[in-house]
Amino acid sequence: MALNFVLPASPSTLAPAPSVATHHASTASAGPAGAAPTGGLAATCATVAAVAGLAQRQRNRNKVARKFSLNLPNMPGFPFEKSKKTVVITGASSGLGLQAAKSLAQQGWQVIMACRDFQKAEKAAKEVGMDPENYQVIHCDLASKQSVRNFVQTFRTMYNSLDALVCNAAVYFPNTHKEGVILPGLFPGGGPRWSAEGHEMSFAANYLGHFLLCKLLLEDLKKSSFSAPRCVILGTVTATVNGAGLGGMIPPLAHVGNFEGLEKGMKAPVTMLDGGAFDGAKAYKDSKVCDVMLMKELHKRYHKETGIVFTSLYPGCIAETNLFREHYPLFQNLFPAFHKTVTKAYVSQEEAGQRLAACVADERYGTSGSYYSWEGEAGTGGGGGREAVQNTEKDLDWFMNYGSFRTLSIDEIGGEAADDQRCSKLWELSEKLVA
Ligand SMILES: NC(=O)c1ccc[n+]([C@@H]2O[C@H](COP(=O)([O-])OP(=O)(O)OC[C@H]3O[C@@H](n4cnc5c(N)ncnc54)[C@H](OP(=O)(O)O)[C@@H]3O)[C@@H](O)[C@H]2O)c1
Repeated sequence: MALNFVLPASPSTLAPAPSVATHHASTASAGPAGAAPTGGLAATCATVAAVAGLAQRQRNRNKVARKFSLNLPNMPGFPFEKSKKTVVITGASSGLGLQAAKSLAQQGWQVIMACRDFQKAEKAAKEVGMDPENYQVIHCDLASKQSVRNFVQTFRTMYNSLDALVCNAAVYFPNTHKEGVILPGLFPGGGPRWSAEGHEMSFAANYLGHFLLCKLLLEDLKKSSFSAPRCVILGTVTATVNGAGLGGMIPPLAHVGNFEGLEKGMKAPVTMLDGGAFDGAKAYKDSKVCDVMLMKELHKRYHKETGIVFTSLYPGCIAETNLFREHYPLFQNLFPAFHKTVTKAYVSQEEAGQRLAACVADERYGTSGSYYSWEGEAGTGGGGGREAVQNTEKDLDWFMNYGSFRTLSIDEIGGEAADDQRCSKLWELSEKLVA
């Protein structure tokens, strides 16, 4: 939902009017969707200031309503429903994030879609039938620190607090390191891509942008009136966080080493966290290891003190999402069929979205430090199967692999993300990069 009013000379005379794309207020930095605001910088600043003024008036109104137990309606034309729980979802313009947004909006949440492409997100929300009253798109390019900071600033002008944060956005460049995917020269990969600050893109967008976002929005989560606000960070089975997981045994294996590359600043020519040679598929897996390590470290540092529930999940193999857009066409065609018929690990986007939504809204998914994983079609058990909260026992999977594809408690998270000292080191080095 864009702001459905024009900003008049005096904020007190609001008038409904055609949409004003609020994301323009936060696009000062460069980025794929970071086009300059049409009205220039001055107009943008005026818009931000006016929205801030309006938001403050609405907040004052809410305070009075709370103090005297009044049921005051929102100011005319003011679109933010304070009575709803709010969730920020990054990368909600497609795939899993979009479906989770839809599911949560249907459950009565106010969904803030933090997306790098405003128009795409708006179109996607409409296409899946989301009610404009229940969502709002705000620009956020996770591959730019400034964009993340702008997002938080814009969010705070509109909302007092936050009830849940979902770190979902990701990019995957499986062939970028190749001279040619099938033969040299055929679909050449083009080498590493870089973020606004010059970091390798998978690391920057999948992990570092989320690190900064989590750090900043912790303050807003602390203000939640929800008894256990949530922060959910997407992992994946190929990130080798279950020591027994078959999915984590597919080369190239995730390997963050002792963060030798990160210690050097993760800027060209350094592309990999372990300081090794560039590999696009490994860069994705490494970034997801970091996401799970981030969840562990957040839990360790903040769960007891704040009550915020930090979790991660493997939603299943959602083989048809745009995540695979950089893969060669034959792969894109065969991948879903392979997982439907051979591995039985396929899950539809809609079902995966409901799983992610459960991690946000279902009270059963409130154990901080958990890494949730479903059985059934998303695991390797074929149709049916256990919900992630029940899928904790070690048993044999479809491949006769013992203990894989299951929900892990914080102490069971293994593989690359197991070492607590390394998790702390990642946190400290990341803080330096976003300072
Ligand atoms: N698909 C699977 O099988 C699978 C399995 C395990 C885990 N996951 C995880 O699930 C999550 C969602 O993946 P998906 O499969 O739904 O992929 P997807 O459809 O490609 O969605 C990824 C989203 O991230 C956004 N994004 C990418 N770079 C961004 C940036 N710099 N700033 C802001 N947003 C950015 C994309 O925006 P645009 O629309 O503008 O491109 C898109 O909305 C990821 O964390 C992924 O690792 C997926």
